[in-house]
Amino acid sequence: MRSLRILSCGGAHPKRMVTNDDLAKIVDTSDEWITTRTGIKSRYFCSEGETANSMAIEAASVALKRSGVDPAEIGCIVTATISGDYATPSISCMIQKELGLPEEIPVLDVSAACSGFIYALEVARGLLESTGGRYALVTGCEQLSKLLDMTDRSTCVLFGDGAGSCLVEAFEDEQSEQKKFVTSLGAKGDMAITAEGVGTAKTRIQMDGKEVFRFAVSTIPKCIQDVLEKSNQVIDEIDWIVCHQANARIIEHCIKKMKAPAEKFYMNLDHYGNTSGASIPMALNEMYEQGLLIPGQNLILVGFGAGLTWGGAFLTYKGVDR
Ligand code: UT7
Repeated sequence: MRSLRILSCGGAHPKRMVTNDDLAKIVDTSDEWITTRTGIKSRYFCSEGETANSMAIEAASVALKRSGVDPAEIGCIVTATISGDYATPSISCMIQKELGLPEEIPVLDVSAACSGFIYALEVARGLLESTGGRYALVTGCEQLSKLLDMTDRSTCVLFGDGAGSCLVEAFEDEQSEQKKFVTSLGAKGDMAITAEGVGTAKTRIQMDGKEVFRFAVSTIPKCIQDVLEKSNQVIDEIDWIVCHQANARIIEHCIKKMKAPAEKFYMNLDHYGNTSGASIPMALNEMYEQGLLIPGQNLILVGFGAGLTWGGAFLTYKGVDR
């Protein structure tokens, strides 16, 4: 079976930054509470003219441009989202249209909330495998601000909007020195996080924060361990671990539990908040832009969240000549 590796990343976020102090003017909260409980200092919310589609298209366009891959060679488009502009057409179809990508390829969105990007990578691998394609555009995009109840302080301070995209390449892993793409995916139906569909009378996100916290700190270490075992590696061989950016305390808890080196865990939730399916590719894009992603590096990505779902992946960053 063929593996996947990342060639390039792109990202986008709305112009309007919303600080904790801005939210404290709307609900009974404070910068101190939000910072100490979550690590979040600010997030971005879409304004007029900015939508899930526009952010996803921008992120995918940047990833495509940076890769240098001929658009005609894109073999599938997969986007992880729970907050697309429309029930249909999908965000992926809009990326295809706006970037002028091929028509004779599979194009679809995946709904697995904060684990969505990992699921989307595995879907892309399967589609490239079955169709013989070589490159996929895999994007995570959320406009969660439109799903927030701005009178509920327990949720409205947590989430933000944004998009991240990776151009990934399928390669024959038996003939390559680069390590195999491996995933660990799972779910257990649970109503701990819910959001009614866009367009219904109530579209707000509701969450039992404590239950999700417990779920996260037990799931993330197991998922990382499973990915390490399946890829026959130890944590010392991994350059970066990028967890879904929900809460700094969750990530710190897992680092402690695993006795893992904290410097391998990338965090940027302080300035984006929780962007669900977009958080992992947005982090990858930021790492790329800061020069932290170096060709040949080994990455573990871990998502967890509504569903409840979880997903871990090992893959390499191949990069392109800059
Ligand atoms: O991406 C999906 C994955 N989601 C997550 O990973 C979320 C996981 N859960 C969490 O991150 C944490 O549970 C939260 C950050 C959501 C909440 O932290 P917590 O330490 O579990 O707080 P809590 O819900 O137990 O609330 C403690 C207190 C309550 O007041 P009382 O009952 O003790 O008087 C809340 O009413 O904090 C109050 N509170 C707030 N106070 C100020 C809740 N939200 C706020 C707020 N500002 N924004």
